[in-house]
Amino acid sequence: MSAEETIVEVPAPSRSYEVRVGCGILDSIGEVTRAAAGGERACVITETNVGPIYANRVEASLAAAGYTVSTLTFEAGEQNKRLSTLETLLEGLAEAELTRDDVVVALGGGVTGDMAGLAAAMYLRGIQVVQAPTSLLAMVDSSVGGKVAVDLAHGKNLCGFFWQPSAVVADVECLHSIDRSLYTDSIGEVVKHAVLADPQMLADLTARPMNGEGYPDELVARIVAENVRIKRDVVVSDEKERGLRQTLNLGHTIGHGIEAASDFKLGHGSSVAAGLCCMARAACAKGWCKPETRDAIVAAMAAQGLPTDTELPHDVVFDYMTHDKKRHGDTMNIVVPAEIGAVEVRKVTMAELRELVDLGCGTGKED
Ligand code: GLY
Repeated sequence: MSAEETIVEVPAPSRSYEVRVGCGILDSIGEVTRAAAGGERACVITETNVGPIYANRVEASLAAAGYTVSTLTFEAGEQNKRLSTLETLLEGLAEAELTRDDVVVALGGGVTGDMAGLAAAMYLRGIQVVQAPTSLLAMVDSSVGGKVAVDLAHGKNLCGFFWQPSAVVADVECLHSIDRSLYTDSIGEVVKHAVLADPQMLADLTARPMNGEGYPDELVARIVAENVRIKRDVVVSDEKERGLRQTLNLGHTIGHGIEAASDFKLGHGSSVAAGLCCMARAACAKGWCKPETRDAIVAAMAAQGLPTDTELPHDVVFDYMTHDKKRHGDTMNIVVPAEIGAVEVRKVTMAELRELVDLGCGTGKED
């Protein structure tokens, strides 16, 4: 382990693996893949924005570790996270003659990790995947925990598996090439993790926003590693989202409604930020949390420049919320911030959910 690297062990029931977080560690991917996954052939799956920047380094590192390397590049963008792209990737893996002993290396953000992970899960009924996340969202959330999926016309991530990676290499220097607004958007998920489990991180993020000028890479790496630990603690005790893992959906029920109602013009992290603040206001109005808890959440999101409310019509937001895949018949489990570092899962009816939208959305000016 280099001085700049933190290793977080993830002993998930279906596979144990290490998440490595550090500055300038991308070139260790060959060595890490060799130790974690073995095999003869490695296929890098990446997209048209990330591939031109980092694929050469990853290919060279894998080749130096003794792999026969191929690369598949798909057109960047959530709109391409579809079964048609997945089919092309699967044909590419077959064309590159990967066997059951070989490995896929997912190089990119959340879309790449989800799709490359799903390709690995399906190809030959499952081969190993190493995740090399290059966006903040992928580092703190989607590369860890094994959720892999593509979108259907009916909604995001409706077709997928739980397929844990064999290793994750998160080089925070890759964040230098990320669009600033995308980086800021992803901080919504970081703040969510802090609300879930780390009052000190929430206070630190509020006092010194992560997207502020001169924020050092070493501090970003520390926060990423802390986020991975928070997610790890949830995922290892509930890999398949039967209970505790639902808490990671904090902010997502109203957030998904806002994201879809905005026609996906508002980013995922920003939608989660607004959704979490709306839920905090609604929870406070219901007496489920104290005003201090609500205010701390709103202040942390506002400090990052993230939205804390929505002006979208309640009917439209609610309508999209009811199509959420977490709905069970006429009820839905919602995650409520009881206090910073402690959340509660509550089962509510659709009528109660609608009341929460009315209490929490568009009411921020009253805070
Ligand atoms: N992003 C939530 C989860 O992985 O369960």
